[in-house]
Formats: sequence, structure tokens, C-alpha cells
Amino acid sequence: MKQQPGWVLPNLREAQKRTHQDSKIEKALFSIPAQCQGVGQGKRYYLRTYGCQANERDSETLAGILEALQFQPTEDVQEADLILMNTCAVRKNAEDKVLGEIGHFKHLARQREDLVIGVCGCMAQEENIVETLLTKYRHVNLIFGTHNLHCLPELLYQVMVGHETCVEVYSKEGDVIENLPVRRFGRHKAWVNIMYGCDKFCTYCIVPYTRGKERSRRMEDILSEVRTLKEEGYREITLLGQNVNAYGKDLGIEGGFARLLEETAKIGIDRIRFTTSHPWDFSDEMIEMIAAYENIMPFIHLPVQSGDSEILKIMGRRYTIEEYRTLFDKIMTRIPGCAVSTDIIVGFPNESDEQFEHTMEIVDYCKFDNAFTFIYSPREGTPAARMRDNVPMEVKQARLARLNERWNSYALEKNTAYEGRVVKVLVDGPSKKNESAYSGYTETNKLVNFSAEGAAAGDIVEVRITQARTWSLHGELVSREK
Ligand code: 5AD
Ligand code: SF4
Repeated sequence: MKQQPGWVLPNLREAQKRTHQDSKIEKALFSIPAQCQGVGQGKRYYLRTYGCQANERDSETLAGILEALQFQPTEDVQEADLILMNTCAVRKNAEDKVLGEIGHFKHLARQREDLVIGVCGCMAQEENIVETLLTKYRHVNLIFGTHNLHCLPELLYQVMVGHETCVEVYSKEGDVIENLPVRRFGRHKAWVNIMYGCDKFCTYCIVPYTRGKERSRRMEDILSEVRTLKEEGYREITLLGQNVNAYGKDLGIEGGFARLLEETAKIGIDRIRFTTSHPWDFSDEMIEMIAAYENIMPFIHLPVQSGDSEILKIMGRRYTIEEYRTLFDKIMTRIPGCAVSTDIIVGFPNESDEQFEHTMEIVDYCKFDNAFTFIYSPREGTPAARMRDNVPMEVKQARLARLNERWNSYALEKNTAYEGRVVKVLVDGPSKKNESAYSGYTETNKLVNFSAEGAAAGDIVEVRITQARTWSLHGELVSREK
């Protein structure tokens, strides 16, 4: 790959370093330079998002910027003038899928010389991926990373007007930028970033390299965003961070996340959720806040990753399985009926049968409401990717199948306990096929499908559960409490 003047390529070694400087909170960094104004006039963009909620929220910013440049959205890739892929790097199979999709765009690029095909998000932060894109996917003409969304107007200008392939990926995180435009995709539920990056460096995980060091937003900026959302009629917000428990540490706010939860709850928005929390620094104060405020939802995503303390140690998770169990018990005692979901990796390098059985045991113990289970995927540049691995893929696959069967049986058991109960549901909307079939989520984050005449998206209604399934509940409307 030949480096071109002006290109800024990613560098994983640089991305690993952490500066001791505090990040600046920039309130005026984003503006649309005069020459970029209206660059999207008469043009359409197609935006695809992969991966986690941080990416979903970034896509809302990308859409906000594009619409400020006068682009119109389209869901039909054939009619797009700009295709933007906001990607995820957490596992290889997700990356392969994206590369496959990008491959399909080659014929579009052949038909349309002025088509802009952009790749951003976590894959753009990886050296090997950028090299692959620049050598084998030469129809991609725009690559930028997770730290410079605010530069999109200039980058687009270079590609669209200057007809250059543009690569700008900063390996070091930048400042916290507060004034970016946003086009929210939901009308009743909103994502609210509270911090960016991750400093945990779990040995299997690429995120600390692709998203940079932990940087918190100022509490007053977050609260003011939540107030505005409430005024705009939003009923639910989800506070977002790779590890929300660390909120405020970089700003010197001790017990930062518990305080933020309390201040957010006092604003009085109907439903508050948060994700993701790390079992290691999940404080008693956080548990007390969830217990104390009715509008903080009794649902916690608490990734365990493995049920074996030795594997947890090699993963760099900083807790033993006994500590996880103690935390789980504390949560269930203080917040009765709380739903807990988890993430689990099977087939970490050299995981023995016995170590895997420990994972089955923690599933038996916690009976998670939901679980996201993955086969370990080596990520270039991470410490685990350098470990020798003696576990054959067939063994990993068999473990995953057993694990899924086990947690599914508990999810069904948990859901069955809802039968006959009346629960509050925030309505997402009627189904496209049948206007009297609605869906929404309970406070404990369970999907409910129910029948009703004339309910509306954004209502909080009461539903009697008539039937439980593994991944959803079915019921009928009881009352329309607003
Ligand atoms: N391989 C498999 N799963 C991974 N995750 C993160 N990195 C990897 C990897 N290299 C999973 C973890 C994490 C979730 C978001 O993705 O379970 O909690
Ligand atoms: Fe990855 Fe661990 Fe950070 Fe989660 S806490 S993003 S698993 S390094």
C-alpha cells in the first residue's frame, strides 16, 4: 500500500498509549466551513450501522452532520450518492460481513463515477483493515475513524469536489466535542453518551484501541441534554458508555456514576437505562440509586465473560467468580425482580472442559434473563491474540451450543414467571403487518407483543401477560396509563 500525501493511517501501537492530559471539553469545535455548505444538496445518503449502541449513537451524529450539509436519507443503496458504513471491530465474523457488503458495492461504483463509499467506525481504526480496504477494495474512497466525526464536512468536500481518496484516522482520541448535530432515530427512546472510550484493556478486546481512553462528558452537559429530551417528549433514555461505572473518574468526580444516576432520575424522565457496567467497579451506591428511584429501570447488563476465575484473570477482568456472585446476590437482594443480562465468551485460548463447566455453573446460578454468547475471536494487536490456543473450533462450537441451550431454558423459566402478571410497557408501535398487534418493552427490558385497539407509540400502558416464550412475552392491553 502506497502512502499518499495527506493520508492519516491508523496505528494500533499508538492507540494503546494513554496520555495523562485531561481531555478538553470543546463546545465550538464543529462548524461547517463555507466551501462545504450545501455540499449534499440534491444528494442522498445511505447509512448502515453495525455493532454496539455507541455506534448507533455515532450514526445519529453522522446523520445530523449529513443533513446539516443538506443530504437526504435513503434506504435504497441503488439511489445513494454517498454510502457510509459505520462498522464494528469486536469480532472477526462481523468484520467479514462488512467486507462482504462493501464488495457488493463494487458494481455500483463502476456505474457511478461520482459515488462516494465511506467506511468509518471501529474497523477504520485497524491498520490491517485499512490496508485491505486500500489495496483490495479500491472503490472505497473515504475512510475516517471514531475520533473525527466532526471533520466529516471537510472530508466529504475533499472526496466530492477534490475527487481524492481520503483517509483520516487518528489513533489518539481527541477532545470531547459538545456541539455536534444529531438526528435521533427514535421519537420516544434516546441514547445519551455519558463517556467515551475504555481503559480496562481486557486482553481479548479491541475497543480500548479503537475508541481511545476514557473521557467523560461534564455532568451539566449530560443533564441539560436529558432535560431537553424530556421537554421534547422522550420517555426513555439510555446512558451510554463502554463502562459507565467509570463515569467521572477522569474529571475527579468520586462516585460519579451513582451521582449522575441520581441527578438524572430527579429530572423525572419516565425511564432511565444504562449500559454497559463492569462487575469490577459496580458500587453499592449505584445499587442503592437503582433501588431508590422508580424511574431507574430494574435491569442491569452485567457481562460475566467466563465462569472461571483463572480465565477471568487471564482475560484481565479484575474480579473472581465469587466476587461476581456476591455482586449478583447483592443486586437481587436490594432490587427484587431485577432482570440481569450478560455477555459470555466461550473458547478463550486454552479454556479447558472444566473451566467451561464453571461457565455453565454461573449460568445455573444466575439464571440470566438474557445472554449474548460468543466464540472467542482473536483481534490483532490485543494480548490474547498472541496466546497459543489448544482448543479446536469444533469444541468451541459444541460449547457454545450447550451454553445457548442452557441459558435459553432459564430465559424461558424467567419469562414464564410473568404469565398472569400485569406489567408496564413502553409502546414502540403497531406492527407493520397488523395494526392491532403492538410491541414494546417492560421495565425489565422484556419484549412484549400484545393486541390492542388504538394504542400509540410512546404510550406507557399496562399489559397482562398471557404467554411466555424464550425471547418474548405475549399479552393483552389492560389499561392505557399515560
Ligand atoms: N471475541 C469474542 N467476543 C468478544 N467480545 C469482545 N471482544 C471479543 C472477542 N475478541 C464480546 C464481549 C463483550 C461483547 C461486547 O463482545 O463479551 O462484552
Ligand atoms: Fe472491552 Fe473490557 Fe472495555 Fe468492555 S470493559 S469495552 S470488554 S476492554
